[in-house]
Amino acid sequence: MEFTNEAEKQKFYMKQCRELVQAKEQQYGRKLTACVVTFGCQMNFKDSEKLIGILKEIGYEQTENENADLVLYNTCTVRENANLKIYGRLGYLSKIKEKNPEMIIGLCGCMMQEAHVVDKLNKSYRFIDLIFGTHNIFLLAQLLYERLMSGHKVESIWNGTTEIVEDLPSVRKYSFKSGVNIMYGCNNFCSYCIVPYVRGRERSRTPEDILREIEALAANGVVEVMLLGQNVNSYGKTLEEPVTFAQLLKRVEQIDGIERIRFMTSHPKDLSDDLIAVMAQSKKICKHLHLPVQSGSTALLKKMNRHYTKEDYLALVEKLRSAIPDIALTTDIIVGFPEETEEDFQDTLDIVEKVRYDSAFTFIYSKRSGTPAADMEHQVAEEVVQERFQRLLNLVNRISKEKTKLLEKTLQPVLVEEENKKEEGYVTGRLSNNSLVHFPGKKEWIGTIVNVYLKEAKGFYYIGEKVD
Ligand code: 5AD
Ligand code: SF4
Repeated sequence: MEFTNEAEKQKFYMKQCRELVQAKEQQYGRKLTACVVTFGCQMNFKDSEKLIGILKEIGYEQTENENADLVLYNTCTVRENANLKIYGRLGYLSKIKEKNPEMIIGLCGCMMQEAHVVDKLNKSYRFIDLIFGTHNIFLLAQLLYERLMSGHKVESIWNGTTEIVEDLPSVRKYSFKSGVNIMYGCNNFCSYCIVPYVRGRERSRTPEDILREIEALAANGVVEVMLLGQNVNSYGKTLEEPVTFAQLLKRVEQIDGIERIRFMTSHPKDLSDDLIAVMAQSKKICKHLHLPVQSGSTALLKKMNRHYTKEDYLALVEKLRSAIPDIALTTDIIVGFPEETEEDFQDTLDIVEKVRYDSAFTFIYSKRSGTPAADMEHQVAEEVVQERFQRLLNLVNRISKEKTKLLEKTLQPVLVEEENKKEEGYVTGRLSNNSLVHFPGKKEWIGTIVNVYLKEAKGFYYIGEKVD
């Protein structure tokens, strides 16, 4: 068979799979079901939407129940906990498969890019049918076809790719908002981080492909897009005709129907003045920046290979706040990086006090084999790390509550996102700064932006009231 491009080839395999699935439907007298379980970050969630899109095209009915004909785990390996969770759940899946031997179990995502993981799966989890990695998720239909035809386990891991496959199906979780990949991979090699090894080198999609996707989303009722990349600030550098992230944002801003633009993640070392200027002028870019600091200690930042000092970071925050006074800042912080001293940790507490983050994700350092930090000698004792982590959490939470309080009794535009899970007759929405508000409302409002009076700040969220 000759195909003009990869997407066409994959569509051929989707059709082949569909015939096999239809035959099974006849045999069973029911639809076949598929359950995709996603672990980890926004990138993985976006990848899963593509996987679900392919499975739907093949004819599987989507379910959240793992007692399904096909179960696919899209895995994460950024911290050890993420890995342990997968092994635990595989034990549970094997029990389901014992009762339904025709069940297909697949694993994909970041964990599969580690050779020692795949070795372990091959030795101790022999009931797995399909293994593929981050670079070839677009091959799902082809690999599944191979599995269905051969009856044997299929494994396909690529070490890297420069290819970006456009135009494959995708099923969105929300009708009104969507993540949009603008780039893949990471070139930064922060010394603790496994992402560059499992997601490969940085490569950007062309602005034309990105804008075409967003225009189609807008035509489909999407009002908010989240531009996704490991380091969006270095977007476009590898393109034949280089484009900056700030230039891309300006073009996204012009798309009718898009009312909110978010993006993540921003590396502080690459955040340009142009980007700040574009954000300050924009009516659509949300007043929120996720700007991972990782540590407040210049010495530790150097060991982390972050390419900025505590002072550089604080100066950047100052510049952002003077250009965009109401901007919300959030961050990621790692506690217990090798060789972290009490003095280093005090610098982290100090930077948190100075920046006053709206919220922060705090992580205990997790040793990832293959990264430079894993070979550093002085790993910090567990009880010291726990104690520091608790101190940091207390501080982050106190500041976060204080910041939330600042918008109490103000009127804010809110994008209504879902019916409230706990309180009947309530909906939940998001402010431009990413905070959540719960207020009495109807599900018909979902996907629209309404004005909400924030009656009461409740710690990290608000209780509000819609104002006409
Ligand atoms: N240990 C702990 N946290 C980590 N992160 C990345 N690698 C590690 C690790 N080895 C955190 C960083 C990053 C976030 C996505 O995960 O803070 O910003
Ligand atoms: Fe990991 Fe650093 Fe790349 Fe973020 S920028 S994905 S922390 S290596």
